[in-house]
Amino acid sequence: MVHNRSTEEGFSSKSLDPAASSISTHKGVSDTMADFVPQWVAGKVWRGHDLGFLGLSKAFWPQVPDNTSSIGFSVEQHSWVRPILDKLVGAHSSRWSVAKIEQSAGEYIDRFIHSGAPFKVPDSIQAWCHIFLHQVQLGVEITDAEALEIVEIQNKVLTASIMPSWVVSNFFMPTFQQHLKFRAAMLEKYKAALPLIITWDRSDEDLMLLASVMLDSIVFAGPPAVTTMISCALGIVYSDESPCTGMELNEETIDAILWECVRLFPPVVGFAWFDGLKKSKRTILWFAEANRDPEVWSDPDTFKLRDLAEHRRLCLAWADKAVDSSNPAHNHACPAKDLSLACATGFLREWAKRQDLWQVRGRIKFLKSKPYVSGWEFRHVPARYFNIEIEGADDPE
Ligand code: HEM
Repeated sequence: MVHNRSTEEGFSSKSLDPAASSISTHKGVSDTMADFVPQWVAGKVWRGHDLGFLGLSKAFWPQVPDNTSSIGFSVEQHSWVRPILDKLVGAHSSRWSVAKIEQSAGEYIDRFIHSGAPFKVPDSIQAWCHIFLHQVQLGVEITDAEALEIVEIQNKVLTASIMPSWVVSNFFMPTFQQHLKFRAAMLEKYKAALPLIITWDRSDEDLMLLASVMLDSIVFAGPPAVTTMISCALGIVYSDESPCTGMELNEETIDAILWECVRLFPPVVGFAWFDGLKKSKRTILWFAEANRDPEVWSDPDTFKLRDLAEHRRLCLAWADKAVDSSNPAHNHACPAKDLSLACATGFLREWAKRQDLWQVRGRIKFLKSKPYVSGWEFRHVPARYFNIEIEGADDPE
């Protein structure tokens, strides 16, 4: 039986920047986002590389002027990068399939079962996302140990990225050299790998930019976002404090749990830009609030299994409206929406097949802001405990 109760409210829509214009209604976010690409193409808005509203870009991308890597690209740069992204991670990419995702996730979970190592949420999930997305985006194979190392560095970088700049300068910068070394090594690896999976006839400088986009996507986009989806879904099912206790993980529920998680616990909380080159006013579209707008959602603060068609129609979490129907190379919506959903559903399907083999260790708390659930461990229950039951059971007819 499933008990619904309201999830905690409180995702802040108040920007730290008093001059910012915060838009929180579903209609406001939707309409303003649809207007973004034409304004950006016309040069009327300015974006920096501030995924997650970070002040860290200058340190992490020292060679790129004025924080303009990746989502801060010029129209010209973005126009050649975006088709490559679509080709690698888009809905019609030949580099991934549901079967490949399930095989990768199943084998990964089995490695924990065979070794007896605890499965840690979120880090073990994030490490799998790295392993799979490195194969898809770069054709690069990384080991479990390398994936965990990336997760460790990534956690530090992501923590620093939401700190005020004085905290970053005083506490993070002294150890930052080590992260910059890691970043340089990854960029070299990606520069060597990319021409092997795409047709490449541009300059070395452009190859560096493309490798930076991939690193950016790996550090700030794909793995953290997919991990948030999967961790929240597992929290819903396993937490004693779940906003929807009694939920089971199975073929009938997985999709609806994930979509509801994206609605209430959005992996990317908003979409932002400045009104022009003077950068005097910032506009921030808050998905977290639009996803709870009572004008479009019934019981907006309640976690419940909803119609998938309703989710698909209303969900704005992948910046779905930031597109240019006349020129897809100008799109800013997430290029990997289908891939990210397939990764999360594929992982949870493989988990569900083995769910009787795990026990939760630790309290799973729901939090008011990202990462939305506190970390915990799954311990493998040895098969012999199950054999006792199986041996004692009646013979099947
Ligand atoms: C397989 C996993 C994913 C990959 C590889 C990925 C990759 C990317 C990339 C490369 C961009 C930049 C696109 C551009 O500037 O043209 C992007 C943008 C974005 N992605 Fe994803 N993403 C993933 C998962 C997700 C998930 C799960 C969400 C949220 C539910 C999400 C939400 C967004 C949003 C909102 C943007 C626009 C950000 C902005 O321009 O401010 N992504 N993603």
